[in-house]
Amino acid sequence: MRPMPEPFRIKMVEPLYPSTREQRKRWLEAAGYNLFNLHATQVYIDLLTDSGTGAMSDRQWSMLLRGDESYAGAESFYRLAKTVDDVFGFTQFVPTHQGRASEALLFGVMVKPAQIVPNNTHFDTTRANLEMAGACAVDLPIPEARDTASEHPFKGNIDIERLEKLLEDTTPGRVPLGMLTLTNNSVGGQPVSLENIEQTKLLLAKYDVPLFLDACRFAENAWFIHRREPDWKDKPLEEIVRTAFSFADGFTFSAKKDGLANIGGLLGVRDKSVFEQIKQRMVVTEGFPTYGGLAGRDLEAIAQGLTEVLDPAHLAHRVGQAVSMVEQLDGAGVPVLKPAGGHGVFLDARRFLPRIPLEEFPGQALAAALYLETGVRSCEIGSVMFAKRDKDTGEMRFPDLDLVRLAIPRRVYTNAQLAWVAEGIADLYAQRDHITGMRMVEEPPVLRHFSARFAPIFRAVIQ
Ligand SMILES: Cc1ncc(COP(=O)(O)O)c(C=O)c1O
Repeated sequence: MRPMPEPFRIKMVEPLYPSTREQRKRWLEAAGYNLFNLHATQVYIDLLTDSGTGAMSDRQWSMLLRGDESYAGAESFYRLAKTVDDVFGFTQFVPTHQGRASEALLFGVMVKPAQIVPNNTHFDTTRANLEMAGACAVDLPIPEARDTASEHPFKGNIDIERLEKLLEDTTPGRVPLGMLTLTNNSVGGQPVSLENIEQTKLLLAKYDVPLFLDACRFAENAWFIHRREPDWKDKPLEEIVRTAFSFADGFTFSAKKDGLANIGGLLGVRDKSVFEQIKQRMVVTEGFPTYGGLAGRDLEAIAQGLTEVLDPAHLAHRVGQAVSMVEQLDGAGVPVLKPAGGHGVFLDARRFLPRIPLEEFPGQALAAALYLETGVRSCEIGSVMFAKRDKDTGEMRFPDLDLVRLAIPRRVYTNAQLAWVAEGIADLYAQRDHITGMRMVEEPPVLRHFSARFAPIFRAVIQ
């Protein structure tokens, strides 16, 4: 497919930082082969994350000047409240400093130790927040999510049968809430159908369990529904979003994604008593409920972002960038997750590097090699993030997939730049036999992927 041209023109530019392979080799070693430890200026094209890395529009920048910095009851909060009601149909919400703060607040109020929270797939911070609350986070993706070659249109769906079994088998009160992550980041930014959202709601309601959406990429999810779901094909995106949220008893949201802002989050709940408890609790950690750890100008940026993100031209171009990269890579024989997800391109590291055993972190090895050869920063989403030693048997449990995510920041890189990245990956694939595995030499106890350090197993080959 010919990529759609950028639906914007560029008013301000920021330099890129080219580097030599020799420089990158030194920087990589100093960073312990963990790309989170690099300085941003050591990166040429930064596809580490699409979170908070987007470009704001001229309208968002202009709204910053209208930020009302009053401690309580700022006008900016009320403008945001109107938008949240218009877009999501929620009147009870608080702003937070980012998505994980919404998770911590919600679970702090609703989740008790030893309880179980099911989700299509928990994002790493969601899982970590639940585990810190002493609860058990259970992932129930559909089987197709494990097959990177399956073209299932809604690979992000939750497995309804397994959810029903979990609810049947657990004692009443043990599941305080169920979640759906839209889109399902950990399985490749894959969408969840409206049918699946509705079925999940109906099933949870049967067991008196509320449904919460992790709505970070609600607009991309709506775009896929608009393009792929027969009953909703070509329906207005606004209507799709309102319908999806009509099934929700609450939502967490990182405005750093589909809020088109560089910082911020939201937490919405319908239950009055839960809402009151959240407001009490947040004063200790986030701030007063009308600013939630943000400046008034941040609230304005989010409100404006939420009015722009459902523009079909934006979503067609954004998802189109991922689709063209996947087509280019697939055409070159590179094992890439299909169909293309909403916010990035996911390389299948196990198929890319079949000779590297799981204990040697093929995803981390691939991400490090890609940086070394091209200066492109990506992110391992696999065993470094999710593998765990079984407490009883001591055996290592690996996740279903080892992916390397090339997350596409919103409105930042052009089609030409992304085509160049895909070319670099295809070249690396041709030399894949030179890539060696990694050993983890420093392992922090929580969210280890952010700060773990590695060493290549055969140092002589990465040179
Ligand atoms: C699906 C999902 N949930 C939650 C979060 C956490 O959001 P934040 O980074 O704003 O804390 C992320 C961030 O990447 C995410 O992708």
